[in-house]
Amino acid sequence: RTLRIGLIPGDGIGREVIPAGRRLLESLPSSLNLKFSFVDLDAGFDTFKRTGTALPDKTVEVLKKECDGALFGAVSSPTTKVAGYSSPIVALRKKLDLYANVRPVKTTAGSSGEPIDLVIVRENTEDLYVKEERTHDTPEGKVAEAIKRISERASSRIATMAGEIALRRQKIRDAAPVSTRSKPMVTITHKSNVLSQTDGLFRETARKALAAERFASVVKEEQIVDSMVYKIFRQPEYYDVIVAPNLYGDILSDGAAALVGSLGLVPSANVTDGFAIGEPCHGSAPDIEGKGIANPIATLRSVALMLEFLGEEAAAAKIYTAVDANLDEGKLLSPDLGGKASTEEVLNDVLKRL
Ligand code: NAI
Ligand code: MG
Repeated sequence: RTLRIGLIPGDGIGREVIPAGRRLLESLPSSLNLKFSFVDLDAGFDTFKRTGTALPDKTVEVLKKECDGALFGAVSSPTTKVAGYSSPIVALRKKLDLYANVRPVKTTAGSSGEPIDLVIVRENTEDLYVKEERTHDTPEGKVAEAIKRISERASSRIATMAGEIALRRQKIRDAAPVSTRSKPMVTITHKSNVLSQTDGLFRETARKALAAERFASVVKEEQIVDSMVYKIFRQPEYYDVIVAPNLYGDILSDGAAALVGSLGLVPSANVTDGFAIGEPCHGSAPDIEGKGIANPIATLRSVALMLEFLGEEAAAAKIYTAVDANLDEGKLLSPDLGGKASTEEVLNDVLKRL
């Protein structure tokens, strides 16, 4: 099978880590029977300064028409508002209907403490992010309002995806020498005690979707979002898959990234049916740009996550294992993890372990 992958480095260290992701794909063992072709695509603040748009139509067209998946680095945002600039990744999510943002947070076998291995599945198309806001002048001063939109369709498909991810993770665990969990679990996060219609609809719809026969083995739980935040810090090892509407998912996933130390380790994927964009969670890191010391691991794990969603679980598993082995040995670590290794040296160490 040959997969065509769009490469969107963006700005800053995006240009250092995305080439590492490409080399990883090119270095996968031939026994996997996977080949790749690549197409370089523009997006980001530099692209905006050059062309007047942060997301050229060509990038969207090529992704839609030619690509099976893509890797997105990071983009810089101007610190003051620049007319005409808007975030390309947000626009891409809309234009390609990337309705799920998936963020695994995992420690390696060699880490101290209880092992953490959870994934947050965030709805990506609606909730407060429909950005329908307005401001009224009233005798008491201004009043601003925003629409929180929750639909049955979006809630159902995100819960279904969470269920599928839970089943897939259990399959991977069951194949491991020591399985750390006997049953998959999905935790539905909401605030329906206060927002009975919007979050109430999310909760009801998610429950219905997960009641499907094929999710019979999945343990279903619910958690009100504020206590979810508390528990994810107190007891992260308890959780498996957490599904949430857009805003809660955004907050939970950035918060959960803090559980594993460096931003340079945390991957994500923007997913729709049959297509996925792998994206490290970090930004363009202007403070270390051009020094060749950016940690490539968030990107390498994002490559694996993309492959998982393209149905290439065996290839993904090889990457996860190689990355974990690099971290557990701890000899070639980048400076964000207290080491001295360059991007290139970390990458080469992971490639060697493949
Ligand atoms: P950042 O994630 O770029 O950097 C935060 C800190 O983490 C910095 O000290 C940086 O050196 C370090 N860091 C991040 N990734 C690393 C890696 N792979 N290896 C080693 N160290 C790493 O966040 P910051 O500084 O708030 O934002 C910088 C720029 O990135 C801004 O223009 C911001 O708008 C943009 N940004 C873009 C994102 C995206 O494209 N999805 C996400 C977050 C920020
Ligand atoms: Mg965020």
